Amino acid sequence: MNLDEILLKAEREHALTRGEIVKLLKTRGEDLKKLYKAADRVRSKYMGDTVYLRGIIEFSNYCKQNCKYCGLRRDNHRLERYRLQPEEIVSMAEKATKLGYKTVVLQSGEDDYYDTDMVEWIIREIKNRMDTAITLCIGEREYEEYKVWREAGADRYLIRHETADPGLYHRLHPGMSLEQRIERLRWLKELGYQVGSGNLIGLPDQDEESISRDILLFKELDLHMVGLGPLVVNPDTPLKDYHNGSVEMALKTIAITRLLLPLAHIPGTTALGSLDPEGRQKALKAGANVVMPNVTRGKYRPLYELYPAKICVDEEPENCRQCIGSIITSLGRVVGTDYGHSPRIEKGE
Ligand code: SF4
Ligand code: FES
Repeated sequence: MNLDEILLKAEREHALTRGEIVKLLKTRGEDLKKLYKAADRVRSKYMGDTVYLRGIIEFSNYCKQNCKYCGLRRDNHRLERYRLQPEEIVSMAEKATKLGYKTVVLQSGEDDYYDTDMVEWIIREIKNRMDTAITLCIGEREYEEYKVWREAGADRYLIRHETADPGLYHRLHPGMSLEQRIERLRWLKELGYQVGSGNLIGLPDQDEESISRDILLFKELDLHMVGLGPLVVNPDTPLKDYHNGSVEMALKTIAITRLLLPLAHIPGTTALGSLDPEGRQKALKAGANVVMPNVTRGKYRPLYELYPAKICVDEEPENCRQCIGSIITSLGRVVGTDYGHSPRIEKGE
């Protein structure tokens, strides 16, 4: 099949073989525009022109894990660590809702300081005091904890699988396993969360074949949300001598993901914006329909240093809200004013 035939099939059937995905991942030049346009058509047909904003509160940069690419890894002793107290988290959520956010994302490293009851308290407080959806992004926990938080009102959970290659996963995540991660994703679905996962583009030993497996895994897990971005090398990690991931490969992956999962929420991620000043805009034109601005306040913003040169660390949440609003309108799109739940949930799927 040639490129046009593959794109036609993808737009009609939302299914491709691994070989076809690899072919799309190898697209270049003028053909690349065709791929982005096809993804943009599918985005427009299934998700409309609304772009949803999710306000991220980075409430702790402690992490017990040691992922080789991440600045929050426990062996990075150069990082100044912080933890927000539950009241502070709730108050930041309140300020985010006042800026118009209808989703707050509570994100941290894997930090057991926040036990089951504490996270439950934060969720209940936010749900009682304000009108917002809650997404959790706090890593691997036990089934019972996920259950308690879901019952307390958490709507969504994000946990990237990073790579579908078990060997690569194991090399990059000492002491962790891909199997365990996928099991968590299945639990979360079973508990009724809207579930998001995603991958990192540009990992060592990762090629188009490997990325095609990631995309097929998104499809197999039937995700509600897929967040992916290029690797941005952090000098305080074991990958310090490696190079950044390719923005173009991340955009291709977004486009193919949109073709295969037409109803997924897909963000133009901060990592894309950090490597390319137009990265988020390009993503929004290649299938993405979500942006996740940082709503963490004050001195904590620069300390959540997954990687250097992260955008917006010197801005206040008010500035980001305004900035992102103008980016969205300049693309002829509109900012969502409702929760932006997965359309599949709303259809009762
Ligand atoms: Fe911790 Fe997540 Fe960073 Fe791994 S990627 S070290 S789990 S914050
Ligand atoms: Fe933060 Fe543009 S979104 S300054």
